[in-house]
Amino acid sequence: MNETTTISRTARAAQATDTDVLFAPYRLGPYTLRHRIVMAPLTRSRARQPGNVPSSLAACYYAQRASAALIVSEATQVSMQGQGYAWTPGIHSREQVEAWQRIIQAVHQADGLIFNQLWHVGRISHPALQPDNMLPVAPSAIIPEGKAFIENERGEGELVPFVRPRALNIEEMPYIVAQYERAAINARAADFDGVEIHAANGYLLDQFIETGTNRRTDTYGGSVENRTRLLFEVAEALIRIWGPDRIGVRLSPMGKMNDIHDDQPETTFGYIAERLSDYHFAYLHIVNPAIEQMQSGKEPDPRALRMVETIRKKFKGTLIVAGGFEADTAARWIREGKADLIAFGRKFIANPDLPERLRIGSPFNADDPTTYYGGGEKGYTDYPSLAQDRGEQPKACVDQRWR
Ligand code: PHB
Repeated sequence: MNETTTISRTARAAQATDTDVLFAPYRLGPYTLRHRIVMAPLTRSRARQPGNVPSSLAACYYAQRASAALIVSEATQVSMQGQGYAWTPGIHSREQVEAWQRIIQAVHQADGLIFNQLWHVGRISHPALQPDNMLPVAPSAIIPEGKAFIENERGEGELVPFVRPRALNIEEMPYIVAQYERAAINARAADFDGVEIHAANGYLLDQFIETGTNRRTDTYGGSVENRTRLLFEVAEALIRIWGPDRIGVRLSPMGKMNDIHDDQPETTFGYIAERLSDYHFAYLHIVNPAIEQMQSGKEPDPRALRMVETIRKKFKGTLIVAGGFEADTAARWIREGKADLIAFGRKFIANPDLPERLRIGSPFNADDPTTYYGGGEKGYTDYPSLAQDRGEQPKACVDQRWR
């Protein structure tokens, strides 16, 4: 090797941005990801009414973001009973499946990969969102703190107090699993590339897992084996449909969303992480409060940070971590082996071409929280890409015949 080569190599290394590590390819189940940047599941509440059918705008929105290594779709209710917010899409009706098919087609045409996040909200709902105005269901009849987001008589979104949910009878449990099963079959019919089991953020599966919401005395409550029974029943049902390597699981250990709480999170989530390893799933995806604390300049809760380390140790497989990462921390976490992939949420809302921006170190568009939920194109499909900033025409991605 001559001296010139050595120098230019060194110069190149010095030039290399810190985020380069985010751009190493990665093998995820049967898929080869181009890089390490995942689009996190994001509720956008824009499904067409009646029927909670994803709109043609969603095809545009997801296709614009197809440069993500993997898109995890917005949380999608597995049944009418599984709905907890106005205008979220489902995957339980024929019309919904046909709409998703067109969305997936648009994503695949743009060379993207997309998993469907399967969602049952349990008690985080309201009779106004339930079939025949019935009570939402839960492991135990405990009212959550906070409010439900419903559509009022004027067709507007409104926050209303939660009601006391109905505790599920043990005889009903196979029918809960069946709701996930039907949704997973539908997700295959829609040509999704995989599914993610939403067991995070205080929704139904998490309500069973964590002690604060589960006071059952039958085989679905008490011990950690019992509290995680529903999760593993769902997981096993889905493996029969998708195989393990196209399934991801999302957990939020130490999260507090939707009034969720566990008396012994280390034991509970350590157990789940260890058991999940045996299934050889595509990935485990965690969202943890320490990330947001760290990024906002606060001292991260050491227990929450330790929890991520525990999970990394106990789970033998691909780990995706989410929770408000900035570029430099994301790269550091990959470099230090704390995560294999990083999921970005809010940054993907405002930056359809987020991977490119991270790669070249370009500034980000700011996101507008007033357009997160509900509405149309504004704050959904109208965030500019770098290509548009350079004067290139955006591709018209909405099929006008599809309304
Ligand atoms: C929400 O709609 O606010 C929402 C949905 C799913 C989550 C978190 C938040 O995991």
